[in-house]
Amino acid sequence: MEKRGLVFLCFLIVFSVSSHFRVQACDDRCKQEVIASSPFSTALEILQKQMNYTFDSIGLLRRAMTHASFSEENNRALSILGTYVIETSVSLRYLTADIDMPAKTLDTKVSDISNVENSCSGDGMRLGLHKVIRVSSKTNASTPTVICGGFRAIFGAIAIDAGKSDFAGNIFWSVHSANGGVAAAL
Ligand SMILES: *[C@@H]1O[C@H](CO)[C@@H](O)[C@H](O)[C@H]1NC(C)=O
Ligand SMILES: *[C@@H]1O[C@H](CO)[C@@H](O)[C@H](O)[C@H]1NC(C)=O
Repeated sequence: MEKRGLVFLCFLIVFSVSSHFRVQACDDRCKQEVIASSPFSTALEILQKQMNYTFDSIGLLRRAMTHASFSEENNRALSILGTYVIETSVSLRYLTADIDMPAKTLDTKVSDISNVENSCSGDGMRLGLHKVIRVSSKTNASTPTVICGGFRAIFGAIAIDAGKSDFAGNIFWSVHSANGGVAAAL
């Protein structure tokens, strides 16, 4: 129950933060994006197909694919939610499979799967996020932290779009295992 409350609170915070920025931060760049079939919107279409998930609010995926160096409307908060989604989903799977799993082992499994260098940026690169994420001209979109931030933000965005964090966790698993990640993690 406590965890549920926490997740709900998290949603509320992200919702209020995101609606605040939606109103505040729609600059010229944002208006330009309304024009359909830009390379960025094409990339978002491809990304949705790769994940087998279609957003109701494409703006959420657009935000997830926007690094903080690019605009005030960015993926930082979504990335925090996404981290919790992934960690919850991983813990749930392992403990469901083995309720006697030692805390230390579980902790290692969770850290392994959300590890920036080995897991998270690898999953993100295989989705081609380095070619999608919008960054400032001074920022390298291929660095593991940028890729990971975007990768995690996708699952925060799906959780909000679907209204269910466990659903977003399932998409994470299918993306991760499509990448051959589950075999490596188990
Ligand atoms: C960008 O970062 C990647 C990964 O860290 C690195 O391999 C690449 O050389 C960097 N590119 C530039 C232009 O610095
Ligand atoms: C998406 O669906 C296709 C066809 O059902 C499947 O081959 C692919 O592995 C799925 N991708 C993910 C990431 O779930």
